[in-house]
Order: sequence, then C-alpha cells, then structure tokens
Amino acid sequence: MTLNKNDLLNLKREKERVSFIAQVAVHQYGGSDAFPLYRQAIAEALDNEPPPFDTEGYSSTYRNSALDPRWLATSILTNAEMEGDGARRLWSLATFAENGEERDLLKQHAVDESRHALYYLALLDLAFPDAIEPGFRQELRQLSPGFSMHKELYPIEGSPYARPPTIDDYLQMNIAEIRTTIHHMMQRTAIQAYCPEENLPQALKVLDQLLDDELAHVGYTAMLIDRVAARTPGNRVGALFRKRFRDFNLITTQELGDNSFGCSLECCAKREWCRAGPSASPFSYSDAPLPDLSAEPSQGATQAPAPAPACH
Ligand SMILES: [Fe+2]
Ligand SMILES: [Fe+2]
Repeated sequence: MTLNKNDLLNLKREKERVSFIAQVAVHQYGGSDAFPLYRQAIAEALDNEPPPFDTEGYSSTYRNSALDPRWLATSILTNAEMEGDGARRLWSLATFAENGEERDLLKQHAVDESRHALYYLALLDLAFPDAIEPGFRQELRQLSPGFSMHKELYPIEGSPYARPPTIDDYLQMNIAEIRTTIHHMMQRTAIQAYCPEENLPQALKVLDQLLDDELAHVGYTAMLIDRVAARTPGNRVGALFRKRFRDFNLITTQELGDNSFGCSLECCAKREWCRAGPSASPFSYSDAPLPDLSAEPSQGATQAPAPAPACH
C-alpha cells in the first residue's frame, strides 16, 4: 500500500510520527519501495537517538503554549522569518551544486521556502485578521526573498553557504524538514482553532500546500541520501545520520528549555554555535569539517570534530 499525506493527517497518535513522516515522504516522492538505504539508515538512527520532538510531551507543550493567541501569532511570524532565511541559504548552496539535477532540486527548494514565508504571512492574516498594522504588514513581505525558478542563481553576499552542498547538508536538511513537518501538524490544529470560520477553507488550502511541499523536501533529500549511501563504503552515511540526529535532539531539548519551537534569528544569535552564529551551516545547524565518506576510517582515527548545532 502506498501512503500519502492523508494517512499522516489521519494519524491519531502524537508520538512516533517521525518514522511515519519519512515513510509517507518516501512513498509520495519515490514509491513504496524507494530509497531502501535511506529507510534503513533513518530506522537505525531513530532506534539509537529517539527525538524529543517525537513525543506526546512535546506536542502537549506546544498545545499549551498555543492557548495564548499572541504566542501563536508570534510563532507564525517566526516561521515566516525562518522560511525566508532558509530560502536564502538554499539559494546560495544551489548556486554551487555541480550536479545539474541537485542544483535544480535545491533551487526548487529555495523557491518553495521563499513562497512559504508568504504563506505564513497569509496564515497570520487568515487566523488573526487585522492583528497587524498595515504599514508593518507591508514591510513583512520582505521576509520572503521572492525567488522563482525563472531567476538566475547567485550566492547571497557574505553567505557562508556559498559553497558546494555535501551529504552532511542533505542529512541535516532531511532531519530539519521532518521536524518542520511535525511542527506543521501541531500548527495546523492550533491555527484551525483560531481561524474565523469564513477564512477556514482558504487557510486549509495554504496548510495543505505547505504540507505537500515539506513532504517533498523530506522526499528529495531522502533520495539524495540514498544515492550517496549506495556509493559509500560501510555504514558511514548511517553513522553520520545518527550523529546528526543526536545533535538535533540536543538543540530541541535546549529550545524547549527556552519554550520555543524552532528558534528565531534573535534566539540563535545568543548561541555562537547556532545557525545565525559564525559557524552556522546551510540549512539548519553545524558546519563541522566533513568526515571523508569515500574511505573507511583508519585505525584510531577520530570522527570529525563535534558539529556546532543550531536550529531550524
Ligand atoms: Fe517551508
Ligand atoms: Fe521545507
């Protein structure tokens, strides 16, 4: 049976959704038998490093926070900011992708995230009409860089992501996109609770488009991970995946301490290892030197230095 996004939306449980999201994304993007090495790698990573964002406690903390409409409105705005920021990173990264297919996929991803910034602003308008003063609302449009597939790629000035993408980027993006999908599921319920009835059909349309896109982002990064895993000796991709889950889990736990779900630029700036910090990396976190995946590790060789995690 091939799963699709409705199976995810109909899922009743609020825990152990990460593996289901990965499964749905793989089914929708490549078919039910697709990307076996990716599926094996993520199953092992989840067994060893179960994510804190995959628990009922995480969902109920979000639900409690979202009881406050101002919190929810701010969180939607933060999402718009993060989507625009992610779009700019991906645009730079896409510019330097040597493989044409990867370049197009990353470019499409950047275009999607650029559009998502506007989607979140639309959700804010729909769920909280008249909450934002019109002048400020106009300014907020700049959160989206306005990328489109018709525009030529170029590196954003000063971007640390003006470099070719790596397997490490794809692993981190995959995890970040899965967590974004978890956040989407929680936001979906919260937004529906506040949205005036006449705006609900339009809000659901926007939410559906967001979910389709996020699942496609999980799907295409799964494909790229599977491809690299197939040509990499041993289980080095799997081991790095596990490590990146561990890092991402740590960030999530720290964010929860700050009562935030995916932090803002301001939040990241507080931590020098975070995404806005000097060592920030492409999409979500870390810019540790890459382990050489082309060769088996020599005796006694150490893993790459601990990554500097950040958030998405
Ligand atoms: Fe997005
Ligand atoms: Fe995404």
